[in-house]
Amino acid sequence: MLRSLFRTKSIDSLVKNADLSADDIHAHGLKRVLGVRDLTFFGIAAIIGAGSFSSLGAAVNAGGPGVVLLFVICGIACGFTAFCYAEFASRIPVAGSAYTYAYASFGEFMAWIIGWALLMEYSIGNIYVAFSWSDYFTSLLHRLDVHIPAYLTCSYHEAAQAIKNNSASGELLDAWNNAPLLGGLRMIVDLPALMINLLITYLVYRGVRESRNFSNVMVILKLAVVALVIIVGGALIFSHDLFHNWTPMNEKGVTGFMPNGFGGVMSAVSGVFFAYIGFDAVSVLAEESKNPQRDLPRGMIWSLIICTIIYILLSLVLTGAVVYSKFANVGDPLAFIFEKQNLDIPWMQLLVAFCAVIAMTSVLLVFQMGQPRIWMSMSRDGLLPPAFQKIHPKFQTPSFATIVTGFLVGVPIIFTDKSFVLDFTSIGTLFAFVLVCGGVLLIPRREKATSGFNMPFINSRFIFPLMTVGAIVFISTQYDHYFTELFNGNFANHSNDADASSYFFPTLAAKLSTIIFWGLCILLSVLSFIKSFSLIPLLGLVSCCYLLTGMAGSNWKWFFVWFAIGMVLYFLYGYKHSKLNK
Ligand code: ALA
Repeated sequence: MLRSLFRTKSIDSLVKNADLSADDIHAHGLKRVLGVRDLTFFGIAAIIGAGSFSSLGAAVNAGGPGVVLLFVICGIACGFTAFCYAEFASRIPVAGSAYTYAYASFGEFMAWIIGWALLMEYSIGNIYVAFSWSDYFTSLLHRLDVHIPAYLTCSYHEAAQAIKNNSASGELLDAWNNAPLLGGLRMIVDLPALMINLLITYLVYRGVRESRNFSNVMVILKLAVVALVIIVGGALIFSHDLFHNWTPMNEKGVTGFMPNGFGGVMSAVSGVFFAYIGFDAVSVLAEESKNPQRDLPRGMIWSLIICTIIYILLSLVLTGAVVYSKFANVGDPLAFIFEKQNLDIPWMQLLVAFCAVIAMTSVLLVFQMGQPRIWMSMSRDGLLPPAFQKIHPKFQTPSFATIVTGFLVGVPIIFTDKSFVLDFTSIGTLFAFVLVCGGVLLIPRREKATSGFNMPFINSRFIFPLMTVGAIVFISTQYDHYFTELFNGNFANHSNDADASSYFFPTLAAKLSTIIFWGLCILLSVLSFIKSFSLIPLLGLVSCCYLLTGMAGSNWKWFFVWFAIGMVLYFLYGYKHSKLNK
């Protein structure tokens, strides 16, 4: 039994079954229409969205200007991971993304788990984007003097929580108090979020060519407006001499780039990492690319480079334009900096609100396209029922899987809230990234291919152990509290609540996960010395594990529940029906 859990698909068989012919429509019925530029655009379409337009506000509020550092760390971690995705995408150019890659490296059980984790990235992630889309859409209408009742613009859970916690949010209280009753139940539902999900599902169902055209226009528009925010905001920081905002004063009267300490910066990891999710979505379009081995890696890496630069500039502008502490409860930070009490440019507020709606629509589109394609691969392998690989005879899209995705995003919109789905998405995606980087370490090295992408091989044998030792020495000499705070805490009495006295580790989860992280670095140093691992995937693995140390205890709890449900489903269905079982 244990052996069959780790049964792998050989890379050769994956590639053979993929039908890499250059025909416009190949054996599986999907159309080959996408080139490097389209794929880069798809990447940007997926990356820039709710993370930059919405969750950035809470991130800046938690970490202050120092959150720029987290964008750099996340950019580096995603960069290494993109190399790993690119290596896999070039070796195994079939739809299915990290799921397919795990099947070739870790075996079936891990492949299933990763497919299960990708559900968090694509479907659960889209729930957050749909909620944020609705926020901006409602505020855009509001600025145009069109008003929707509050009980139709927020989730039931949010409104109920606001009442329970005596929140000061007028909108949520209004929603709760004025919602019509049906059999004693308050009718509160985020209608715009549901409507956009319906529209996107329809569009994806109709076919990739239409979706691609729609997405390219949206990407150009959102890049133009984000550039405008950076230029106008940046110019005003200089002309108003607002540089002092980059070293603000915290509640204790201390000024600094990281007013809430490094722990404060790391606590923003869910929101910041969420902003990067999406470059990997490019890899699910393998079977719709004209030349997947060459174009997929390029599309992924280009989109990541462009977005990293944008994020660094954007977070500098944001934290320079307005002092970090003012971003508490701000859901539309990019429009907020142009409000009357801040930079005071009314036309920018309207433009940004409009653009945010466009940006998030393109994110929804890409993720809603990605999910059915992963399921299609899982179904072909027998891990999901055959209906998931059904291709629509006219539109040539995975029709059944697309409709199920629509339901999976739509139904939780009625029952969940924003912050829960944000955390859940980030932890699931980071987990998938860790496995992809680990997978590249495990697959055998190959001869340099003449075409396609070749990840440069740098032997980690001496470099990685030296880096680990160097990092420990550097931290202990430069930040003498770091290791004392890490090991000297009273774990028995340390609760999960924030501990403001700790500069680096405000929660028990942060402490425990960081201890595990350093243990892992030491273990990997030994292994890399023995096995001469490739340095790039190794650094990808380590940097993604590091980002996981910023996750709160409650995130881990839900993550393990999710993991357990996935295991039960695998043993009830996938294990028995797997093609490798026959
Ligand atoms: N990175 C995507 C966004 O920010 C998921 O919306």
